[in-house]
Amino acid sequence: MESKVTKKPSATLTVNNRQIELPVYGGSVGPDVVDIRKLYSETGVFTYDPGFTSTASCESQITYIDGDEGVLLYRGYPIDQLAEHSSFLEVCYLLLHGELPNETQLKAFDKAITYHTMLHAQFDRFFEGYRRDAHPMAVMVGTVGALAAFYHDSTDIDDSRQRTIASHRMIAKMPTIAARAYKYSIGQPFVSPRNNLDYASNFLRMCFAVPAEDYVINPVLARAMDVFFILHADHEQNASTSTVRLAGSSGANPFACIASGIACLWGPAHGGANEAALKMLEEIGTVDHIPEFIRRVKDKDSDVRLMGFGHRVYKNYDPRAKAMQKLCHQVLKEVGAEDNPLLKVAMELEKIALSDEYFIQRKLYPNVDFYSGITLKAMGFPTSMFTVLFAVARTVGWIAQWTEMMEDPSQKIGRPRQVYTGAGPRDFVPLAKR
Ligand code: CMC
Repeated sequence: MESKVTKKPSATLTVNNRQIELPVYGGSVGPDVVDIRKLYSETGVFTYDPGFTSTASCESQITYIDGDEGVLLYRGYPIDQLAEHSSFLEVCYLLLHGELPNETQLKAFDKAITYHTMLHAQFDRFFEGYRRDAHPMAVMVGTVGALAAFYHDSTDIDDSRQRTIASHRMIAKMPTIAARAYKYSIGQPFVSPRNNLDYASNFLRMCFAVPAEDYVINPVLARAMDVFFILHADHEQNASTSTVRLAGSSGANPFACIASGIACLWGPAHGGANEAALKMLEEIGTVDHIPEFIRRVKDKDSDVRLMGFGHRVYKNYDPRAKAMQKLCHQVLKEVGAEDNPLLKVAMELEKIALSDEYFIQRKLYPNVDFYSGITLKAMGFPTSMFTVLFAVARTVGWIAQWTEMMEDPSQKIGRPRQVYTGAGPRDFVPLAKR
């Protein structure tokens, strides 16, 4: 990746009675950054930024978020336009290559992905090692990590051809693995991918078809699945993406890196929030229980949070949440569940929260997970699969970010420092004297 930062007037910092000049760079849009790489060698101090709230960890040309304005761009294109007019595979190409594909490029890319969807036959046996009641995210972490054991010929990170094959393999095989994790958990036979189906339709078929009858694709649900994938495809340097980059910075193979991203995504503050948000709506149950729930959320002594609300970067309505809300209504209408009581609870909860001083003051708005759980449930997915679907979609983002890092000449192993507050040096005390 060729650096595109522009030099800005430098910043001056006085520390330990020394004044130093720090370079400042600008990107194409968004805040400038102060380059502190020489800070420690020149002054002997580190910066301190737990949670990286003010730290840019890399230069990237993939995704841009303006959290105050509620803007999300993939390679410059607004998310709402992509969700309206594009397809997931087109978005994958865009994220990986930087430009929307022309017809020939899209056809070739579609073929490359479609013809990598099958799994090694021995891989299927791997699933049988798990308990039937295992959480499908646990299965995902293990099986995706195991891909490196099956596809040795695409683990040489210094070979760009192998990197491309590994990327195609992961985008292609992730739906097959996810569908198998689901089928295994419900004791149904695995369904093989079909090359005549598009990405989303093929995935739905692998999840919901049974040998006893023909599976008919519902185009509204297939499009909803595709849009869900588009909305979750990338999101800048979030926790799981940063995990993938950090794992990759040591030279780990791409399958291991993506497995580490899946592990991070599982947490309820990140990808696990869609599952947590639906559980919360089910717990609230009916609209008349909302005031009591809001009271608990606002209570300083309770650790109850309004799941699907708030975001580290968005201090405005998450643009993905708007698209997801629209999708939710379309799906519920299609499956005849417009009167779904959970939708009523969600809409009322959103209305109350958006007019409540607690949420207004803290700039807490619905995020993408607020409506995704209801949508996915209406499509037939159990709650435990929600984060798995997020992982299927985010795989392309992780890969695009990993590839960008591999091609960045300024890339170094990630190695943060700390402010140490533990015990000072002391002598060992033998057991008898303790
Ligand atoms: N409900 C109630 N209060 C909240 C919430 C919430 N969902 N989120 C933040 N707050 C409060 C928090 O208590 C704190 O209040 P105070 O200043 O009085 O202590 C203030 O808002 C700031 O919170 P924070 O934890 O410092 O903010 P953060 O940027 O570290 O956290 C977050 C961001 C997403 C982890 C958090 O908003 C949250 O836990 N939300 C619920 C989980 C969720 O929906 N996550 C999905 C994120 S979007 C999908 C993805 O990218 O994975």
